[in-house]
Amino acid sequence: MMKYWLIQKTTINGFIKGMKVKGAHMDKGYSDFISRMNQMIGIDLSLYKEAQMKRRITSLRNKRGFENFSSYFQALKKDQILLDEFIDRLTINVSEFYRNPKRWEVLQEKVIPHLIHDKDKLTIWSAACSTGEEPYSLAIMLKERFPRLQVQILATDIDKGALDKAKQGVYKEQSLKDLPHIYKNKYFIQKNGLCYLNEKIKKMVNFKGHNLLADRYPQNIDLIICRNVLIYFTDEAKQEIYTNFSHSLNPDGVLFVGSTEQIFSPDQYNLSVFDTFFYKKEPQNE
Ligand SMILES: C[S@@+](CC[C@H](N)C(=O)[O-])C[C@H]1O[C@@H](n2cnc3c(N)ncnc32)[C@H](O)[C@@H]1O
Repeated sequence: MMKYWLIQKTTINGFIKGMKVKGAHMDKGYSDFISRMNQMIGIDLSLYKEAQMKRRITSLRNKRGFENFSSYFQALKKDQILLDEFIDRLTINVSEFYRNPKRWEVLQEKVIPHLIHDKDKLTIWSAACSTGEEPYSLAIMLKERFPRLQVQILATDIDKGALDKAKQGVYKEQSLKDLPHIYKNKYFIQKNGLCYLNEKIKKMVNFKGHNLLADRYPQNIDLIICRNVLIYFTDEAKQEIYTNFSHSLNPDGVLFVGSTEQIFSPDQYNLSVFDTFFYKKEPQNE
C-alpha cells in the first residue's frame, strides 16, 4: 500500500528554476509577491496562468484595502484569516458529483472494463479532488457496477480546507444534481437541506495533501482522474504534469482529464487517445 508514496522524484524543481527566468517580464511588485508567497506557503504562482491569477489576487487585495502587493504580503504574514481567504480564492474549489455525466458513462462502460480485463484490483488516483465529489462519485459507481472489484482510491488536493470538507462528506443538494437519482437516495441522508454521504462510501477513499507542482507523484496507478485544474496552469507546467502522470500510470492505464483540457500531441507523453478526454498509457516505450 505504501508503494504509493515510494515515488519517482519529479523534475519539477529544475523546471521551476527555468520558470523564474521566464517570469522576468512580470511587474516587479507582483513577481516579488509571488516569490515571497512561494516561500511562505509553498505554492508557486508563477506556474499558474499569469493574467488570470494576477486579476484574482489584485481584486482580493483591493477588496481588503491594500494599495500594493508589498503591504498585502505583510498583512498575509500576520493574519491567518486573511491568508486562509487568499488560499481559498486562488484554489477555486468548484466541483460536483458526476460532473459532465456523459464522460462518467464512458468511464463506466468502456474505461473500467478495459482496465479490469486481466485484473481484479484497481489503484485509482483522483488528483486535485477538491471537496471530494469526484472520488466519491467514482466510489459509488464502482460499488454499484463492479461490486466484486477491489479498489484503492487515493484522492489528493493542495487545499487542506477542501480536504477537510471532503472527509466530512456533507454536500449541498445542488452538487448532486447530475448523480443518478437512485444513487442519491441510496447513499445520502438528507437533513436540513444538506446531503450526508454514507460512511461505507467515505471509507473507500483515502484523502491526502499533494501539490501537483512540487510533490512526488504516486506510482503504479491504473486510472488517474485529474479534471478542471490544468486549465489554470501555464503550458510549461502542464507539460511537466502530463510527463509525471504518464510515469505514474501502469502500462495500459488511463488518464481522465476535464472537458476543456484536451492534450495536444499526447504521444509526446507516451499517451494515446482512448476516448474523448481519456488517454491510455502506451506500454511499448517504458
Ligand atoms: C475546480 S477544482 C476541480 C475539482 C474536481 N477535479 C472537478 O473537476 O470537479 C480545482 C482544484 O484544484 C486544486 N489545485 C489547484 N492547484 C493545485 C496544485 N498545484 N496541486 C494540487 N491541486 C491543486 C484546487 O485546490 C481545487 O480544489
